[in-house]
This record gives sequence, structure tokens and C-alpha cells, in this order.
Amino acid sequence: ASPILIAPSILSADFAAMGEEVAAATRAGADWLHIDIMDGHFVPNLTFGPPMVRALRPHSHLPFDVHLMIEPADPLLEAFAAAGADHIHVHVEGNPHVHRSLQTIRALGKKAGVAICPATPPEAVSYLLDLADVILVMTVNPGFGGQRFLESQLPKIRTLREMVTASKRDIVIGVDGGVDPLVMPLAAAAGANMFVSGTAVFGQADYAMAIAHLRQAGAG
Ligand code: DX5
Ligand code: ZN
Repeated sequence: ASPILIAPSILSADFAAMGEEVAAATRAGADWLHIDIMDGHFVPNLTFGPPMVRALRPHSHLPFDVHLMIEPADPLLEAFAAAGADHIHVHVEGNPHVHRSLQTIRALGKKAGVAICPATPPEAVSYLLDLADVILVMTVNPGFGGQRFLESQLPKIRTLREMVTASKRDIVIGVDGGVDPLVMPLAAAAGANMFVSGTAVFGQADYAMAIAHLRQAGAG
């Protein structure tokens, strides 16, 4: 079985101390750092853009997992790559030429992720499996941290895992939204191997303990 990857989402970190928060999550044993980019249009909330990614880059050696909740995404792919993103996730919703978006991300030398909202069926990624390095399954409706994990997404994760296995490609399946130690075993059993977590890491006093707790819960 592939190892469990934990990606704390800085959406739940202290925005006034972001450099230190990123460094702290790195010391605490995170695998990737998840950076949520929101545009107030694709999702009803705003966060930050490439300058924040650039500013955070010196504070961690971990892969920056950049989740673009922006519409359209294409005009900003190069800027996020140049700012220090390692993985760039684009939503199938709101990006009609998402296949080209993934090609662009790979041409920029970055890992290409495809994100899908709760209402989107797993088949939406079937013609992207030759290009995707990561599939990011939203287990909440994107826009806000601290929402409840949607268990309705578990069958979708199972289907995606079967699709990935059949593709014979090494594609990471991530879950994003409402991930806590209680849902870790469910998502892992369904086939997820990457877990984004905002509140369950940055909402805790001890980040190292929080990450270890998630990892242990996912290992079953
Ligand atoms: C939601 C974001 C998530 C969010 C997860 O739109 O994509 O990454 O930060 O936060 P929690 O873990 O609190 O649900
Ligand atoms: Zn996210």
C-alpha cells in the first residue's frame, strides 16, 4: 500500500503569522502543504494569490500543493508555478479545457492535479487519467474550512481508486474537506492516500500530535 500523505491546509492557520505557521507545520511532520486559492467568484470567499506562495516559499522545503478555486485558472498557472507551487490543482468545474490546463501544468514542470466538487461524478476525470498526477476529491463544497465531511463521497473515492488501478498510472487520490481522525479510516479504506486537513491540524494546540494522530487513524 502507498504511504499516507498528510497535507495541512493553511486556510485554518493564523493569516497574520503565515511564515511561522508554515514552518511549524513543516517541523510537525507534514508531507505537503496545501494552499487554498479562492477568487470570490468560483467560490464565495477570497484568500491570496501568487505573491503569498512566493513569500512562503523560503519557510518550508515541503511540496506546495496549490488548490486553485478560481475561474478561469489558465491565466494564472504560470504565475503560480513561478511563485513556487509544486502541485497545481485545477477544478473540472469552471474550466472547460481542463485537459489543456493539465498539459500546461506539466509543461511548466509541475505536478498536475484535477479537483472535483461533491456534485461531480467520478467519470468527469476518466479522460484526464493520462495527465493527472493527483485527483483531489472535495469532501465539502469548496470555499470554507471547518465544514463537515460528506460521507456521500466515499463511493466516488472507491470508483476513482478502481479507475486509477485500471489506468496502471501512479496517481495520488486526495480528499479535501472535513478530514479529522474519525473520517481518516473511512477515506483510507475507500482508497484515498492523501489527506488535506485544515481545522484538524491548525485548529489544534500541538500540530505534531495532530498530524501523528491523523496518520495513525489512516493507517487503520
Ligand atoms: C475548502 C478547502 C479545504 C479546507 C479544508 O474549500 O479546499 O482545503 O481548507 O479545511 P478543513 O479541514 O477545516 O475542512
Ligand atoms: Zn483545498
